[in-house]
Amino acid sequence: MAFEMVGVVGLGTMGAGIAEVFARGGLRVIGVEADADALARGRGHLERSTQRAVDRGKLAAGDRDEVLGRITLTTSREDLREADLVVEAIPEVLGYKTALMNDLDGICKPETVLATNTSSLSVTAIAAATGRPGRVVGLHFFNPAPVMRLAEVVRTVVTDDDVVPAMRELAVRLGKTAVVVGDRAGFVVNRLLLPYLNHAAVLMEQGVAGRDDIDAAMRDGAGLPMGPFQLLDLIGLDTAYEIMGVLFDETRDRRHAPAPVLRELVSARLLGRKSGRGFYGDEPRPHEPAKSSVITFDVAGQGGDELAERLGTAGFKRSAEPDVLLRMADRPVIEHAVQLSDPSRLVGVHVVGGRVAEVVSTVLTSPEAAFAAADLMKVIGLAPVACKDRAGFVVDALLYPYLNDAVRMYESGYAPIDEIDSAMRLGCGYPAGPFETLESVGLDVVRDGLRALYAEYREPAFAPAPLLDQLVTAGVRTFPRP
Ligand SMILES: NC(=O)c1ccc[n+]([C@@H]2O[C@H](COP(=O)([O-])OP(=O)(O)OC[C@H]3O[C@@H](n4cnc5c(N)ncnc54)[C@H](O)[C@@H]3O)[C@@H](O)[C@H]2O)c1
Repeated sequence: MAFEMVGVVGLGTMGAGIAEVFARGGLRVIGVEADADALARGRGHLERSTQRAVDRGKLAAGDRDEVLGRITLTTSREDLREADLVVEAIPEVLGYKTALMNDLDGICKPETVLATNTSSLSVTAIAAATGRPGRVVGLHFFNPAPVMRLAEVVRTVVTDDDVVPAMRELAVRLGKTAVVVGDRAGFVVNRLLLPYLNHAAVLMEQGVAGRDDIDAAMRDGAGLPMGPFQLLDLIGLDTAYEIMGVLFDETRDRRHAPAPVLRELVSARLLGRKSGRGFYGDEPRPHEPAKSSVITFDVAGQGGDELAERLGTAGFKRSAEPDVLLRMADRPVIEHAVQLSDPSRLVGVHVVGGRVAEVVSTVLTSPEAAFAAADLMKVIGLAPVACKDRAGFVVDALLYPYLNDAVRMYESGYAPIDEIDSAMRLGCGYPAGPFETLESVGLDVVRDGLRALYAEYREPAFAPAPLLDQLVTAGVRTFPRP
């Protein structure tokens, strides 16, 4: 199957990037938008993105004109008559996509492959809207498409045998790695990523921690390329909301019910980067708070002596009657607080990734003590993340369920371990896939953390996946790979 001329319908966040990927891969591209204004916006996306690639040295200045020259922009779908492949990237609404595909079916050559960039909708349902379901496939790129190296190729039960290998080859030609998966809501990446993003919004709504603290915890503590709220703004809150809705409809897992704050922001048309404001906007940066007047401290718990030494070197005095008592902990801090005559001075500390300290306030902690503890962490070069005394605090509460979901996905037979790992690395830019993370954190640590989360929230999906539990029981430290 030779793909020389491809159509891209919808030149928004994703479509413009996909058109650029094809053009940079040497293919001729016809980009279709709904109307002249949207087409002008699409042209703007293409021009800015290719200019950025030149500025970053990823594209030669001379090649940029050639790349843009390969792209023809139009508002007429009829111009797709000669295309060998058409990829749609219009909004994530099934009715829009089925109507478009039905139309394309009437316009394009019978052998043309029709691909959808849907993140979560049923590719089978989209295929069924055409008279050529065997030539409809999912081709799911990641944001930003010119940068992220993954493409999920989604095969339905009726996809023709020659289409999937042709898509895989095309992905390779475009410099992407293809992961071929079946048609389940969210495929690999969004099925694992979006519930984590949603959970971050839920934790914020529950007041466990604030937006900036959660983002800092996951970026600087867990080592992810950006925090969940930054990523939600990048994806687009409307897109994220739609995907969560589709996941929920398929799974009925209440963790997949979109966080109410998403609905509120979407209703207000605060959609993230594409509308200029979402979780982040142009609000003034908060002032650096003044330094606290804490003079003495004490530290208890595992790893406390090292922290005490660093604080001592920074000029603070350890005392048996301290202004603030730091308790190193990865479990509820309140259990330690209630044993003290003055629990208001006790603040939990959980260091994550060597750069972040979760600073945990119990219901009995005084605001002054929490403030002082955060200050002490800053002095020794740790970014403080203020949070409530809830199982898993911030990082573990967000990370462990995601890891557990990956184990369940593998157990269900949906995708092999290595493909799940490479999908998350290449699709999200994560430093490691979930199984690699599980093995480096320790299967037993994650299993025990999940048990603690389950015990607190009674959320069925937090119960350790049977495979994880069994591997820990058997004393095995790595996952079985073929
Ligand atoms: N945003 C992401 O991070 C991301 C990542 C992967 C996949 N996706 C998927 O890509 C698709 C598009 O998402 P997006 O974020 O680019 O949305 P978007 O809102 O940024 O862009 C959609 C574009 O489609 C255009 N459009 C709407 N109806 C049209 C029609 N009938 N004909 C031609 N153009 C039309 C709109 O004018 C708009 O420019 C969705 O299915 C989404 O799930 C999004």
